[in-house]
Amino acid sequence: MRNKIVAGNWKMNKTLNEAMELAIALGEHRSEIADHVNVIIAPPALYLGHLEMIENPCFSLAAQNCSQHTYGAFTGEWSAVMLKAMNVHFCILGHSERRQYFFETDELIGKKVDACLEQEVTPIFCCGETLEQRNEKHHFITVLHQLEKALFHLSGDQMKKVIIAYEPVWAIGTGVTASNDQAQEMHAFIRQSLSNHFGAEVADRIHILYGGSVNAANAAELFACPDVDGGLVGGASLKVKDFSEIIKAASHA
Ligand code: PGA
Repeated sequence: MRNKIVAGNWKMNKTLNEAMELAIALGEHRSEIADHVNVIIAPPALYLGHLEMIENPCFSLAAQNCSQHTYGAFTGEWSAVMLKAMNVHFCILGHSERRQYFFETDELIGKKVDACLEQEVTPIFCCGETLEQRNEKHHFITVLHQLEKALFHLSGDQMKKVIIAYEPVWAIGTGVTASNDQAQEMHAFIRQSLSNHFGAEVADRIHILYGGSVNAANAAELFACPDVDGGLVGGASLKVKDFSEIIKAASHA
């Protein structure tokens, strides 16, 4: 049985004071987090060091991105080595905003996955189709190609250490959530694709999170789908009430 993961992607939001307040307020809901739920938050990278200092936190930290390189002349970048040294054990990779605005390709994202795994930083690999691709009924093949190009070079043991987030681009920040059936159908397809390539034992262990307009009202139903192992939450993770309701939904799932 896989545990549930609820990850909050704060994107480029909050000042440092606001970020600290939010993280501390989240801690006040600690008793509502069931043992089978892991909470992760991904603040702007600038704040990771500060949030890491919070005593006895109820969450783990993630970065929203990292370089494929280790050290060197790469102005503006940071590496998985640096994340590990700061006790940051997770890193979101290949978010659709990175793909769209920073031209990240699956090949590049695959290198970032390797860099994270080398440092024992768990990648949260994002995949998902655009509305156009879904309307053309290309959503399964689009996601399969993303998995193949960025992840299928890994060994089974490495793959077990990756978290996948299925985030249909048309659902991100739009208020339009995938239906439970759409989410379950794609998650089952992803798991089957992983099983075909890595074997059922690996595929059964992998967490597949759903992302795209998850909120307090729809989280419980989404998390009840058999192949939905939690959520990657953007907008609703910025408000403690909403995010704690989502964590509660995972705790009851
Ligand atoms: P959203 O963002 O919950 O605001 O749709 C999700 C994400 O981008 O990870």
